[in-house]
Amino acid sequence: MRRKLIAGNWKMNGSLAANAVLLDGIKSELSQASCDVAVCVPSPYLAQCKSLLSGTSIKWGGQDVSVHESGAYTGEVAAAMLNDFDCAYVIVGHSERRSYHGESSELVAAKAVRAIKSGLIPIVCVGESLEEREAGKTESVVGMQLDAVLSVIDAGDCSKMVIAYEPVWAIGTGKTATPQMAQDVHAVLRARVASKSASAAETIQILYGGSMKPDNAKELLAMQDIDGGLIGGAALKAADFLAIIRSA
Ligand code: PGA
Repeated sequence: MRRKLIAGNWKMNGSLAANAVLLDGIKSELSQASCDVAVCVPSPYLAQCKSLLSGTSIKWGGQDVSVHESGAYTGEVAAAMLNDFDCAYVIVGHSERRSYHGESSELVAAKAVRAIKSGLIPIVCVGESLEEREAGKTESVVGMQLDAVLSVIDAGDCSKMVIAYEPVWAIGTGKTATPQMAQDVHAVLRARVASKSASAAETIQILYGGSMKPDNAKELLAMQDIDGGLIGGAALKAADFLAIIRSA
């Protein structure tokens, strides 16, 4: 039985004051969480997470990482810097980075490798656009995005990452994939992992993301190959995030 992971993706939201209220709200209710819980926050707030979440069961992480180790890369954040703040996770290849920052699947794969080498668990995001889904290309699009990563990591490292299936048309739109639609894609992704490492395919957590909310989480999380959620909007309200965690 795979343990579930509920990870918040705060995106570019938050403030010191608002984060303190949100994290206190989550912490105060979470002593008995039966799943893994994490928040991926804007880099300036990693120190705050470290100070407020150390010693709790909640882990934290970044939303992107540089492929470079250090040097003249203005604006980028190195894996070693995420290590400095005791991050457990880092999101790579979120569709907002792929589309607004032109990140290719090869770059995303290199970022995943960098994260794994640094002891961070990359949450590798894949997902198709509405146009691609309507053209029947969902499996080939997400398959290629995942293959880019699988082709550059060692088989033994497959179990050191998390995959998030996030249909682009469902992110922040209020439209969710039906549990069966999501399950079908998750099964395809798990089969791809199996072709590289059968044992990793058994244990790897494959999250669903895209308008997961308290009222649809239970059904999605009940599907066989859905091992958790990457939560955007609903991770910004303690009550909603906690309700999703309770469904897991
Ligand atoms: P959403 O975002 O839950 O607001 O749709 C999910 C994500 O982009 O990770």
